[in-house]
Amino acid sequence: MGKSLRVGILTAGGDSPGLNAAIRGFGKAAIGHHHMELVGFRDGIRGLAENRVVELGQGALSGILTLGGTILSTSRDKVHKMVVDGEPRDMRETILANYQANNLDALVMLGGGGTAKNALRLAEAGLNIITLPKTIDNDIACTDTTFGFATATEIATEAVDRLHSTAHSHHRIILTEIMGHAAGWLTLAAGIAGGADIILIPEIPYSVDSVVDTIQGRLSRGSTFSVVAVAEGARDTKDSADYEAAKLLVRTASTPEAERAARAHLAHVVDLQREHTFKLARELEAATGLESRVTILGYVQRGGTPCAADRLLATRLGTAAAQLVSEGTFGVMVAARGEGTEPVPLTDVAGKVKLVPPDHEWVQAARQLGTGLGD
Ligand code: F6P
Repeated sequence: MGKSLRVGILTAGGDSPGLNAAIRGFGKAAIGHHHMELVGFRDGIRGLAENRVVELGQGALSGILTLGGTILSTSRDKVHKMVVDGEPRDMRETILANYQANNLDALVMLGGGGTAKNALRLAEAGLNIITLPKTIDNDIACTDTTFGFATATEIATEAVDRLHSTAHSHHRIILTEIMGHAAGWLTLAAGIAGGADIILIPEIPYSVDSVVDTIQGRLSRGSTFSVVAVAEGARDTKDSADYEAAKLLVRTASTPEAERAARAHLAHVVDLQREHTFKLARELEAATGLESRVTILGYVQRGGTPCAADRLLATRLGTAAAQLVSEGTFGVMVAARGEGTEPVPLTDVAGKVKLVPPDHEWVQAARQLGTGLGD
């Protein structure tokens, strides 16, 4: 028998339900089925750069299927710009040296869009990399879905359900802010599943007048309350135009100085637009006379045990990744495709974001129900 393959694994970016299920799925298949050795890097990219390595045996993989968070811990760092002693540093050579010193044949990275970019940079630096798509945002390109999304949808849906009680009992407008970064998947899914009266997502800039019209329409039909699901990235038409213009300045900056200035301007615009859900609540209260309240769901959406669908998805993706490592297929993300999985080149995934197409079936379904989309 030849030498066992030795594989590293890490989790990067925000924690997400299903990370431990994926570590377990990959690890059990890698060790038990493919006879590989497994080590983990603690704290994501930072731990990889600082060689925070731990041996992972079968024992470490037991009892973690249902655990939230990540047993390996995580961080948000960039391989080419990791802040060390207050300065951004390119850590690619250090990471390559750690990979070689640990005698690794491959590295499996569990993460979202930022991780795909880091992974591609490391693959280009010579590491054998496979990624698995993790995020509650469901915004990774080239995969049907991501683990974490189903659980977060369950949590946000339950919140929308429960907010109905106070909304109708007190004749209030209740706005609930739902995560999702720049994508509206989570808000749209939870908004539809929870029966929100209005759903506002980043992909469809809203006008306050349109939201008011929907609420007035409900009032005229005797519904004296409204539940509004607001994506954290949703913007009204003016804010959206300002934001897009600021992003364009960054994309088209022709010198490093111009880019620095454009980035500072973008950060300022984003800062000005913070607390948009509270602003909208005030506007709706003034226009309708109904008391308005805000509930921000925040990290509750990422916490706790993964639902069955995420455990199943994470396990499928993890075991598929072990199979790919055994076959020597690298530089790919393991995508979910229908009932199966498919390796997709990291070059197709990195730097792309999967947004909700404004004519998506879910959007159309919401419109047909009479749900206000704010446009
Ligand atoms: O990507 C997952 C996510 O929860 C987003 O929905 C949200 O915008 C972001 O992470 C929050 O990031 P952080 O954990 O750094 O506050």
